[in-house]
Amino acid sequence: MTVKRNAMNVSIILGIGIVLMLFFFVLVVHHREIPARVQQQRGALLGTNSTVAERIKPVGQVDLAPAKTQQAPVKIAVTAPPPARDGQQVYQAGCVACHGAGIAGAPKLGDKGQWAKRIAKGADTLYASAVNGVQGSGGAMPAKGGNPALSDAEVKAAVDYMVAQSK
Ligand code: HEC
Repeated sequence: MTVKRNAMNVSIILGIGIVLMLFFFVLVVHHREIPARVQQQRGALLGTNSTVAERIKPVGQVDLAPAKTQQAPVKIAVTAPPPARDGQQVYQAGCVACHGAGIAGAPKLGDKGQWAKRIAKGADTLYASAVNGVQGSGGAMPAKGGNPALSDAEVKAAVDYMVAQSK
């Protein structure tokens, strides 16, 4: 009985010992790999095999020596804003959808009869109708022809173009 118990105790202790040894073995192997892994990951992060001195060198240097050569004046290219589109371009880009064929009650470009009574109202009235929109008996003219990105000047230029084409 006692012998059996002792044998059991010994095997339990042995078992625990083996488990502990395995644990330490794994632990040691794991930590032995760390320096190599750090090296590898740092290399991947930096993307280069550069040295520390290269990586921490200053990004610029101030040269206090007097300039030996006269530097050519720096030319600054000023890009002008794109010119506003003229009346015809604005018309072609949007107004033509309705006014080209006279769709939905829109006075047709070049139709002198349809335009005469509108032109008689005066340019300012036409500008206002085109910029703000107008509800007529035959149809509705959306503000700026439905394109709020157009400037008032562009819409007015388009009106001028349409009027000139329809006189
Ligand atoms: C969705 C269709 C549509 C588009 C796009 C459109 N119009 Fe019109 N337009 C109309 C209709 C319909 C009328 C007639 C309204 C009425 O009976 O007074 C009209 C009338 C006008 C008139 C006459 C207004 C008046 O007081 O008699 C002008 C000027 C005009 N449009 C300019 C333009 C310009 C400029 C554009 C482009 C920026 C444009 N339209 C785009 C439908 C359109």
